[in-house]
Amino acid sequence: QAAQKGGYKHFMLKEIFEQPKVITDCLAGRINMQDMSVQLPELESLAAPKRLHILACGTSYHAGMWGKYLIESWARIPVSVEIASEFRYRDLILDEDDVVLSISQSGETADTLAGMRRAKEFGATIIGLCNVVGSSVAREADHVLYTQAGPEISVASTKAMCSQLVLLYLLAMHWGRQKKTLPDDVRDNAVKNILALPTVLETELPRLRTRATELSRLYSASHSFMYLGRGFQFPLALEGALKLKEISYIHAEGYASGEMKHGPIALIDPEFPTFALALHDELFLKVKSNLEEVQARGGRIIALTHPGLDLNVTDPWIIPELWGPLDSFMALSCLQLFAYEVADYLGKDVDQPRNLAKSVTVE
Ligand code: G6P
Repeated sequence: QAAQKGGYKHFMLKEIFEQPKVITDCLAGRINMQDMSVQLPELESLAAPKRLHILACGTSYHAGMWGKYLIESWARIPVSVEIASEFRYRDLILDEDDVVLSISQSGETADTLAGMRRAKEFGATIIGLCNVVGSSVAREADHVLYTQAGPEISVASTKAMCSQLVLLYLLAMHWGRQKKTLPDDVRDNAVKNILALPTVLETELPRLRTRATELSRLYSASHSFMYLGRGFQFPLALEGALKLKEISYIHAEGYASGEMKHGPIALIDPEFPTFALALHDELFLKVKSNLEEVQARGGRIIALTHPGLDLNVTDPWIIPELWGPLDSFMALSCLQLFAYEVADYLGKDVDQPRNLAKSVTVE
């Protein structure tokens, strides 16, 4: 096992550090530089959907939420993101025009499979987005897109989510082009910048880990955390909270920053820290004002933020600014590394957390 871990203490850490390579592998053969088009031959016979339903569980569900923001923006397709265990038992309204995108690393999650099967009964077209070749989701879908994350050993999913985000990004570009809703300059930037992403991330990862380690020492005695984000960073706030609770057993809630005033703010005190995503985007000032509310109540704040932003928090975590939605890839690595360092510092069984399974094949 030590050899398989490639010198890393845990598979989770190895898998976080593999993410630059995963992005490269997911992009291989997918972009035609002549016309900057995305190559998804798996979907050749499929027109851009009128409506898309994304179906998933756990971390894959968070990837799907992120994909919604991008597909709606670039391809102007209305997207609903569904927790598979809810979807499968709902009084569904679907028909042959609907397309369902089932996202599953393992391709074996019982609820996701059951949701797909129900959607099929209505004649909907199913696209599977899976990591495991030949898995049940892959076999039962009408079209399959494979992520190229390689085997993910650690129970807590890291690189698989990264690979799902890459494929969702490509899908948003692909449908955006089909529908002529994605401006050429945005498309060109989208291509150019994602191709540069692996090198940027690879260079940054060691520094991110150092900061994650420092912060883990300051915050690992906390019993509860709130994660906040808006827009693209909202699904990441949910994922950051999920990672922390999965492996460190510290309670954490992810919230849309704007929802904080509707309840969670009552919890804020010096013992209840907030992990905020306060990146340089059009919602930064809104997030900033939410964080001022936290500070006014004595709450300590870790904030992922960008250089030059005017933000006064307890512990800023300044990361390089990337292009558009690509900021999420850097932020995701930070959230993963923070959870990892806290769990490891607390001596938890990082790769095999109690009560969890890698693939949940029972309801
Ligand atoms: C389990 C795993 C999670 C994963 C979820 C969905 O709960 O512990 O890490 O996100 O299943 O798995 P899937 O294979 O469908 O992506």
